[in-house]
Amino acid sequence: MKTLYITQKLPAAADIWLQKTALDREIFPEPHPIPREILLQKIKMADGLICMLSDAIDADLMDAAPKLKVICNYAVGTNNIDLEAARARNIIVCNTPGVLTHATAELTWALILAAARRLTESERFLRAGKFIGWQPTLLIGTELFGKTLGIIGSGRIGQRVAQIGHAFGMEILYSRSRNPDLEKACNAKLSEFGDILKNSDIISLHVPLTPENKRLITMRELKMMKSSAILINTARGPIVNEADLATALQQKIIAAAGLDVFEKEPLVHPGLLALENLVLLPHIGSATERARNAMAKMVIEDAAAVLNGQSPKNRVV
Ligand code: NAP
Ligand code: GLV
Ligand code: GLV
Repeated sequence: MKTLYITQKLPAAADIWLQKTALDREIFPEPHPIPREILLQKIKMADGLICMLSDAIDADLMDAAPKLKVICNYAVGTNNIDLEAARARNIIVCNTPGVLTHATAELTWALILAAARRLTESERFLRAGKFIGWQPTLLIGTELFGKTLGIIGSGRIGQRVAQIGHAFGMEILYSRSRNPDLEKACNAKLSEFGDILKNSDIISLHVPLTPENKRLITMRELKMMKSSAILINTARGPIVNEADLATALQQKIIAAAGLDVFEKEPLVHPGLLALENLVLLPHIGSATERARNAMAKMVIEDAAAVLNGQSPKNRVV
């Protein structure tokens, strides 16, 4: 019988699909990312792997896995996996595109609204007992209607964020390939990266983490933005230089930011933690019941397909 190793417990609904596969399976039982030494041990006997975005799946790990045929990432971003190493070893890699688009786009909007209207700061203020009555100038924020939303990376999630922005009455700028459907749906305008930085009130990042996109946003790019701009990152932490962002927020080079992802997750740059004009979330973009169940079904079905000699639906490599 083929063996599937799963590096964290999936939502309870996953049990139904796991039972259908008739694969032998083992699950790392603890509620935190699996330590590297344990994964190196467990992978030795695995024919298939369902892993998390927090697991570094590199060439050394693949070399410790002589039977491994398939890696299914319980995420759409695959930057945690060495795709070239997998290709070279004929290991198939799958991910979970599409089913988490709404969840992540909606969470992006939660961050946009929270940063623009100072929600977390306002809540901290209230809970601290500082709300002594309505005031004309209390916790003034930014109104979004009529403002410009810049989308960096107009793939599945970026396009959905743009559509919601259009419903808020925002002008939409997007990169980097022309998309007539998006232009029709949102009156979106294709713009150069630098022009998006200069002209947007809200800048939202939706590119995958690749070598070219690492540190796409540094002090240079932050200085190109309006001093009233708000930067949102629900893509991947290393796309932004976190130390530069902390300085820019502290010195009011930009007005505010909202982050769901961090350069060295789960660590957060200490300079960020002290700031009020920043909303911080623990990487919960896809954390809805519907998305996480659908992701579980996808990774289990694709792992089972490969191990049964069939084609998986969501193959990356
Ligand atoms: P997608 O459909 O593949 O979209 C990514 C888009 O980025 C593509 O349109 C791509 O365009 C574009 N792109 C890549 N590099 C670019 C650059 N330098 N400048 C401009 N555009 C660039 O992926 P998705 O499903 O929307 O997901 C996007 C990312 O979100 C994932 O890779 C993942 O890292 C992140 N994510 C985070 C969460 C969370 O929990 N916070 C949840 C889901 C996803 P081309 O076609 O021209 O390459
Ligand atoms: C989450 O971050 C994902 O890439 O699915
Ligand atoms: C505010 O609560 C208003 O009524 O304007």
